[in-house]
This record gives sequence, structure tokens and C-alpha cells, in this order.
Amino acid sequence: TTFADKQYRSPIICILGHVDTGKTSLLDKIRNTNVQGGEARGITQQIGASFIPVEAIKEQTKSFAEKIKMDFKLPGLLLIDTPGHESFNNLRSRGSGLCDLAILVIDIMHGLEAQTLESINLLRMRKTPFIVALNKVDRIYDWKPCVNTDFKEAYKVQSKSAAQEFDYKVKDTIAALAGQELNAELYWRNKDHRKYVSLVPTSAHTGEGISDLMLVVMQLMQKLMLDKVEFTNQLQCTLLEVKVIEGFGTTIDVVLVNGTLNEGDKIVVSGFNGPIETSIRSLLTPPPLRESRVKSTFINHKSIRAAMGIKIVAPGLEKAVPGTSLHVVGPNDDIEKIRAEAKRE
Ligand code: GTP
Ligand code: MG
Ligand code: NA
Repeated sequence: TTFADKQYRSPIICILGHVDTGKTSLLDKIRNTNVQGGEARGITQQIGASFIPVEAIKEQTKSFAEKIKMDFKLPGLLLIDTPGHESFNNLRSRGSGLCDLAILVIDIMHGLEAQTLESINLLRMRKTPFIVALNKVDRIYDWKPCVNTDFKEAYKVQSKSAAQEFDYKVKDTIAALAGQELNAELYWRNKDHRKYVSLVPTSAHTGEGISDLMLVVMQLMQKLMLDKVEFTNQLQCTLLEVKVIEGFGTTIDVVLVNGTLNEGDKIVVSGFNGPIETSIRSLLTPPPLRESRVKSTFINHKSIRAAMGIKIVAPGLEKAVPGTSLHVVGPNDDIEKIRAEAKRE
């Protein structure tokens, strides 16, 4: 194949970090939704996937993207929100395990916290590249809110004392990360993304730095990891959660990392009592910019290409095991081999 033939899937971006650093709020700002407001006590308890089409990213980053002559090559981003509460280590681990890149969210007023460190260790263990969103900049004393503004523009109009406090907080964070043996630098000063972690200051409340965050993610993927997101037909699909949904019975939420799923496909998933063989009755997704955790009218698909968060309706899924892989049985596949694979997980 020549370069022009190459097709890319959306990168999978996992949002990780300590409880209440603003992970869901950042996503809400990006999607223009209010998922956080609907959560019990404001605590995230599930993994959520949402697809952000590239058109939405272009629209949101317009002035900035024009300034830097950004050329968008990817179809969008699949964002995976995870809980920060300490009891959900398994979900953070699952989320970080399937992503191409992670956004580690740190509250600029709090610095590194327990689950920040845990997240760093997870990312290290799996060698997952990540950037840091240094969130809640609007909480800096005397910070003048600049709604939906590129961060550097917002910084320019701050009082001397607010700018100074921001500089101190950044220094503190860089020092704390150095304590974890990580080199970090504000993203516009970062000359080597392989050696330094980029810090992107943001506010999920005012929208400052959101365009920066989107563009840094896009640029990193396009400049350094494009080969990682080449679309292939090699199926790679992870089961996130098993859920009973009114009208559908037991369903599974999956992340399709690569390949294609079709209605009617014969599938094998790991079950607590051994491999489960069934076939896909429906492939459902929330509308673009919405997410799997929120009740909405699902869109029914005959066929879906990666990357996407999908709800699968099929009989017999009650004992399916979250965190394992989903296999499709093709006409020439050895079912015994696939059964054995599903058993091993
Ligand atoms: P968990 O999923 O429970 O770990 O929390 P989270 O990281 O998703 O944080 P969440 O979005 O629930 O936000 C926690 C609290 O911080 C909420 O009250 C938000 O309104 C607030 N918050 C989030 N981002 C910002 C921000 O940029 N600025 C300010 N001032 N508050 C914020
Ligand atoms: Mg949350
Ligand atoms: Na929260």
C-alpha cells in the first residue's frame, strides 16, 4: 500500500487522575454536556466512552488551529473517562490498558495526590505515553476568567500576582513530577516529547486551555504515533462492562480498538463458567459527543469500524467477564482455538 491508501482509526485517549481533579468536567466541556452534574455525589463510578468527531474538534479549536496551520489527519478521538476514587483501581487499570495515549489530570491547587501516583505507575507499567492537564487554573487567586480562550492568550491578561502564582504552581508540579523521576515542561516549551511530559493548563469551568489540550493530543498522535493508529482488520476489542438495560436485557459495553464488527457476527467472550458463544443481535452507540453511561436514544448500526465505544446486545451474556477480549469467529476460523483463547483470559 502507498501512503495515500493508509486509513487511520481514532486514537483512544484515557482520562486518569485523582478523585475530583475534574476529569469528567473536562470531558463535559469538550462535549458541551453535563454528565458530571448527573453523577451520584459527583463521583464517577464507571468507565465511559465518547466519540469526538474531528469536525467538532476543528470547530472547537478553530482560531488556534488556523494560527498553527494544523492539518487534521485523524477521524476523531475516542475519549475514555475513568473514576478517580481509590476503590476503582480495576477500572483505571482497564482504561489505561487499552488506550493509545492518556491525559493525566492534576488539580493545579493540590498537586500530586495518591491516585495521581497510582495512575503514573499504571502508565509506566504499560509504557503508555501521556500528557498532563493541569486543571482548575481558574482557582488561582485573582485569576481573570477568559471564557474558552487559548491558554497563552488567557495568561497574557492576568495580573502580575496571578501570573506569578501560576508560575509557582507550575514549578511546584514540575518539581513534584521530578520526584517521580519524570521530566515535565509546559507544552509550548517542550522540545522533546519523548523525554518530557507536556503540561497543559486548563479550566473545565471557564474553558481556558481546552483548545490547547485537544490540539496537543492531536499533534502528539499525528507526529509521533500515527503508525499506532493505522486501521487494520485485525480485530481488537475489549469488554468494559456487563449491564442490564431495560428493553435489551443483558448487554456488554466494549471498546473496539481495531477491526470491524457487524450485526449477526458470531462472537466468543470469556465467561465466569467458561467461554460464551453467541451472535451479535444489535450494535448500538450513543450519538457522537454523547456517551455510553448516559441514558439516551442509541443509534443502531449494521456495521461499525474502530475505534468506537459500542454497546452489544446478544443473548447469553450474563456471565461475561469485564476486562477480557471479544473474539469474532470468521468462516475460516478454528472455533476450538478461539474457545481456548477465551478460556485462558
Ligand atoms: P471523579 O470522577 O469522581 O474522580 O472526579 P472527576 O475527576 O471526574 O472530577 P469532577 O469532574 O467530578 O469535578 C470535581 C469537582 O471539581 C466538581 O465540583 C467540579 O465542578 C469541580 N471542577 C472541575 N473542574 C474544575 C475547574 O477547572 N475549575 C474549578 N473551579 N472547578 C472544577
Ligand atoms: Mg469523574
Ligand atoms: Na468527582
